Amino acid sequence: MKIAVLAGDGIGPEVTQEALRVLDALKLPDVALTHADVGATAYRSQGHPLPQETLEAAREADAVLFGAVGDPACDNIERHLRPEQAILGLRSELELFANLRPAQGYAGLEDMSALRPEIASAIDLVIVRELNGDVYFGKKQRDILEDGRREGWDRMSYAEDEVRRIAHVAFRTAKTRNNRVTSVDKANVLETSRLWREVVDEVAAEYPEVRLDHMYVDNAAMQLVKAPGSFDVVLTGNLFGDILSDLASMCVGSIGLLASSSMGARQTDFGTFGLYEPIHGSAPDIAGRGKANPMAMILSLAMMLRHSFGREGEAAAIEAAVAKALADGIHGGDLGGDYGCEAIGSAVVERL
Ligand code: IPM
Ligand code: MG
Repeated sequence: MKIAVLAGDGIGPEVTQEALRVLDALKLPDVALTHADVGATAYRSQGHPLPQETLEAAREADAVLFGAVGDPACDNIERHLRPEQAILGLRSELELFANLRPAQGYAGLEDMSALRPEIASAIDLVIVRELNGDVYFGKKQRDILEDGRREGWDRMSYAEDEVRRIAHVAFRTAKTRNNRVTSVDKANVLETSRLWREVVDEVAAEYPEVRLDHMYVDNAAMQLVKAPGSFDVVLTGNLFGDILSDLASMCVGSIGLLASSSMGARQTDFGTFGLYEPIHGSAPDIAGRGKANPMAMILSLAMMLRHSFGREGEAAAIEAAVAKALADGIHGGDLGGDYGCEAIGSAVVERL
């Protein structure tokens, strides 16, 4: 089981280390780890946020464990050298078009949510976010208009096959859950969204057992806060998925708890090739101080074992250990507690 470990910047290395301790505790046979630099760390050591060597390490692996990238010191460098380009580059180079971001309520955290406890505890949804298209990867440009004003633009588009393949992922995911898909778009304004809606409807015809609704993204933001428990699978594009997944994390209680998987079509000897990362960023404000909550990273490892290595038993055991730790009051600073990164890692390992 070849795993490329790309810890990255800020709190990335700290949380990755705890996830690797959890992996170690499972004592799985034949795990081979390769470590490579990514993000600002790679820019400093090798002049590029996604060096060829790192991309190759990811390609040669069966799965990638990814920490976080981002560094305020790089805010003013050219866009193609910014740390974020590393994760965007990996997603597109490896054709990881399907991003799954589950959000569920945890016992003991009801009071941490920004929502009322009875509303927060009902959350059990997964955001299926398209990851290779949309305004993220469209042509971008800066112009000077005739009258001298500066203008910036980014092209938003989706081709029908891009919509179709992510829609299939959402419907298949719904079949393993509660058979409901809410497709989120802005079809009242955007042509991109009108095509999106058309294609999602076509795909839906192949899944008669799944109930499909369409929702405008502004309304979806409102409903996620009002009644997050009413969602099962949320299918959406790259930009809206980015925004709604941060929103969903605060309904749960902390962004330090949400894991994600990014997958494409490639199959390995063990399962589906994928990249696994917490949805949080590099948190430069607390980096290097042992304060980060590694749970999102540990839960990303669980998703890796499930989707890329077919190890459902181990994945479920890790998730149960995290849930137990939370219920036992093992809370990091993000949850108002005083457990540090390593202590949280140890608490999860003990329960595992
Ligand atoms: C995420 C992040 C990334 C994104 C950034 C780091 C480019 O916010 O994974 O949600 O916008 O996709
Ligand atoms: Mg984001």
